[in-house]
Amino acid sequence: TSPFKGVKDLVDHNVLSLPSAYIKPFEKRHNPQEVFEGIDLPRVDLQSKTAMEDIKFACEEWGFFELINHGVPEDVIEDMVKNTHTFFNLSTTEKMKYFSEDVFNPMRFCTSLTPSKESYLDWHDHLQHWFKCDNLNNHPYPNIPIHYGEVTKNYVKNMQILGKKLLIVMSKALGLHENKLQEIYGNEEMIVRLNYYPPCPDPERALGLNPHSDSGGITILWQDQVGGLQIQKEGKWYNVRCNSNALIVNVGDQVEIITNGIFKSVIHRAIVNRNLYRMSMASFFNPCAQAIIAPIQELLDKQNPAQYKARLSKDYIGDIYNKYIEGKNVKRED
Ligand code: SIN
Ligand code: FE2
Repeated sequence: TSPFKGVKDLVDHNVLSLPSAYIKPFEKRHNPQEVFEGIDLPRVDLQSKTAMEDIKFACEEWGFFELINHGVPEDVIEDMVKNTHTFFNLSTTEKMKYFSEDVFNPMRFCTSLTPSKESYLDWHDHLQHWFKCDNLNNHPYPNIPIHYGEVTKNYVKNMQILGKKLLIVMSKALGLHENKLQEIYGNEEMIVRLNYYPPCPDPERALGLNPHSDSGGITILWQDQVGGLQIQKEGKWYNVRCNSNALIVNVGDQVEIITNGIFKSVIHRAIVNRNLYRMSMASFFNPCAQAIIAPIQELLDKQNPAQYKARLSKDYIGDIYNKYIEGKNVKRED
């Protein structure tokens, strides 16, 4: 059995001060004085006539946008949120049945990323599902709550529809055939990461999630109203506001490579707070393991040579998941 039982377990045992494993070195802490409020992410209405241009602008300038009229029914999201809450509120013994440090496991409950390998732990627990597109039915799910599998399948199906729509609009926004990104993806893989951030006794010395860029293709995030997601733009940190019913979409490293840097993956992190539980649900749409991730030829010419080398998606993801996620992993080849 693992010595790591999650942050919720510590809080349930009335932890009064931050255990040393969670104290980030000084230079990695977040400084509330350095966080800027007062700017809003670009907002995209997927039903509007300008959706394509708005997505283009957001992916080029921000790598992040808020999405409304996304077509995922409210009750589908609500059911998933309830389900996830119920899961994280199960006893530690029940949750630990699913504990795994193998990041490639189809279903795993864990805390931080791979806690036995990390020097400083993140203040969150998570349940992660790694789906191959066509295995929603024989995918493993927790036994409790009893409708967990049904609710999750429904959520995932809706998210997949949205993910495909976004790939079409993004392809068009790049001036490409609408199926171009989907073709490069092949049989996409989808990861759903359900994040639970309990209140933290010393939020200024801890972090919920280390600064990182997403290593996959695109990410669609639901977050509750507590707040904690911050993105880095031109070296400064900004709070990402959370409007209910909206989803947050961001560009991952592999889409940055495919678009030769036209769309940008952006560093983000999650902070925690003293009093409130926070939950977020991230759906990652990644190219299949065998997809070749390289700048699209049609986007290249003399003035715009390839900025990144070709690699298999699987090597790329494997590399990152075997390291401690931190900072931006994708680099231009200068
Ligand atoms: C993420 O980076 O995957 C999501 C962070 C969050 O909980 O907002
Ligand atoms: Fe992320």
